[in-house]
Amino acid sequence: MTNAKPIIVALDFPDAASALALSECLDPDLCRVKVGKELFTRSGPELVRNLGSMGFEVFLDLKYHDIPNTVAGAVSAAADLGVWMVNVHASGGRAMMEAARKALPANSETLLLAVTVLTNMGNEDLQALNISASTEEQVITLATLAKDSEMDGVVCSAMETPVLNAALGDDFVLVTPGIRPSGDSVDDQKRIMTPAKAMASGSHYLVIGRPVTQADDPAEKLQSIMEQISAKT
Ligand code: C5P
Repeated sequence: MTNAKPIIVALDFPDAASALALSECLDPDLCRVKVGKELFTRSGPELVRNLGSMGFEVFLDLKYHDIPNTVAGAVSAAADLGVWMVNVHASGGRAMMEAARKALPANSETLLLAVTVLTNMGNEDLQALNISASTEEQVITLATLAKDSEMDGVVCSAMETPVLNAALGDDFVLVTPGIRPSGDSVDDQKRIMTPAKAMASGSHYLVIGRPVTQADDPAEKLQSIMEQISAKT
């Protein structure tokens, strides 16, 4: 799968004004944007529509995890909003993911993804949940279940993309957060990789938040990340 616009900028802001101000510095021909829980809870569907009318394709990152009927309704509402991508937690199980898939029309353009293991979590965090599998084993288990449940792809760490590409094929979309250009602050992420390495390892889309949103010049930072990717690929 080749992808001319692989960067999804995570708009992790507390309010719509800050998210829109940052978005105005960005070119929708060069990147997509992600709206997560804090911003959506404060600013909701109107902000998603505003971003759409600015020309941005929106990844609605609400990571739904509930009983199948509830998740199906939420996914259907997201598709009605016209979002480009929406996600659920693979750990919600097969029935939940299948209900989410059935909630979208067969010709829907909304991509439906499943989250595997959050990139801030390591083996010791899984052990604390009484999961004896390593993060990589758990990611493979959840991604395989997601594919069998007809998800379009998964959100995972860039460290797991080679094994997932090999196991699940190149058509299965891999979206990877936990991306840090070398020299940038790691923040609270654990399983991180540089943008160029992540693309070379088989990521299809990179979710990048603070390295762009907290940069002095976000547009210039985005440009520099894109140059790092194309120099390597
Ligand atoms: O600022 P940073 O680049 O760390 O932002 C990463 C974004 O990706 C955040 O919005 C976070 O919620 C999201 N994310 C993640 N790990 C996942 C799924 C989503 O970090 N497994």
